[in-house]
This record gives sequence, C-alpha cells and structure tokens, in this order.
Amino acid sequence: MSRTIVAALLVVVSVAAADEPAKPTGPPPGPPPYQMRAELPAGDRLAGGKDGAVLYSNRCGACHLVGGMGTNLLTKQRMMLGEPPEQGLLTNRTDLTQTYVKLVVRQGKLAMPPLSRVEVTDAELDAIATVLGKAGP
Ligand code: HEC
Repeated sequence: MSRTIVAALLVVVSVAAADEPAKPTGPPPGPPPYQMRAELPAGDRLAGGKDGAVLYSNRCGACHLVGGMGTNLLTKQRMMLGEPPEQGLLTNRTDLTQTYVKLVVRQGKLAMPPLSRVEVTDAELDAIATVLGKAGP
C-alpha cells in the first residue's frame, strides 16, 4: 500500500518538475535607463557649447529617460490623448517649442518641480531646449 503511495508521489513530483519554466540564461538585466544617465560634461557650467543630448540625459534623465517617473506620467497623458506610448519620452515629441521647454523647467508643471539655475544653468537649459524643441514660442 505505502509503495503505491510512494510510486504515485514520484509520478506527481516528476510531472511537476517537467512543467517548471526554463531558467533564464545570460547575464542578469542591468539597471533601468533612467538610472544610467550620462556624466555631466566637464568644464564651466555657465559656458555654452555643450552637447544638449548629454546634458538632457544628465539633468533631466532621472525622470525623463525610460522608466523615469516623468516618462511614466507623460506616457499615460499622451495615451489618454490617443497617441502611442513612445510619445511619453520628450525626445520623441515634435510639438514642443524651446520657449515652452524652458518655461516648464523654470516654473515647473503639475508633478514636475521647477529647476533652479543652480540645478540647470541658463547655458545648459539653452542646449537642452535646442535638442527637445523647435525654435519659436
Ligand atoms: C523630478 C523629476 C523631473 C525632473 C528632474 C525633470 N522633469 Fe520634466 N517632468 C516631470 C514630470 C513628472 C512631468 C509631468 C508633469 C505632469 O503633467 O504632471 C514633467 C513634464 C515636463 C514637460 C512638459 C511636457 C508636456 O507634455 O507638457 C517638459 C517640457 C519637461 N518636463 C522638461 C524637462 C526638462 C527639460 C528637464 C531637465 C532640465 C526636466 N523636465 C526635468 C518630472 C521631472
């Protein structure tokens, strides 16, 4: 009797083992993009001529790269407007102007806090706005 139970248990265990999902292979996934921001470019932060895309990654990336809370909130907003989720990334937008970007950064907007000239200098913001927005109001 007990042998039958043991045999039945063995069958159950082996069937359960066969159903186990395959273990993931390769290296574990790295940190999400918003935690992998570019380094702040060296040199005078008040001087112009820096790479706006690098500055954007460094100064805005914690919230606006993939996985950041700004991206998450804006993705929801854009999807509610019927746009694809990629529009949650500011770098994919075509409707932003440089003036608007600078205004939002200095004054804040809803869940986005205003950023001071210490956090983002005027020269840095000029370069960032050039990457994100078109010229004009
Ligand atoms: C602390 C997080 C945080 C940082 C840092 C941050 N933002 Fe934001 N940003 C947000 C959030 C959150 C929103 C969405 C605000 C809302 O609608 O509630 C937002 C919205 C915006 C918008 C408005 C988009 C729209 O559709 O109207 C612009 C433009 C913007 N951010 C630019 C920037 C730039 C440029 C920087 C860097 C200089 C920056 N942000 C840094 C959190 C951040």
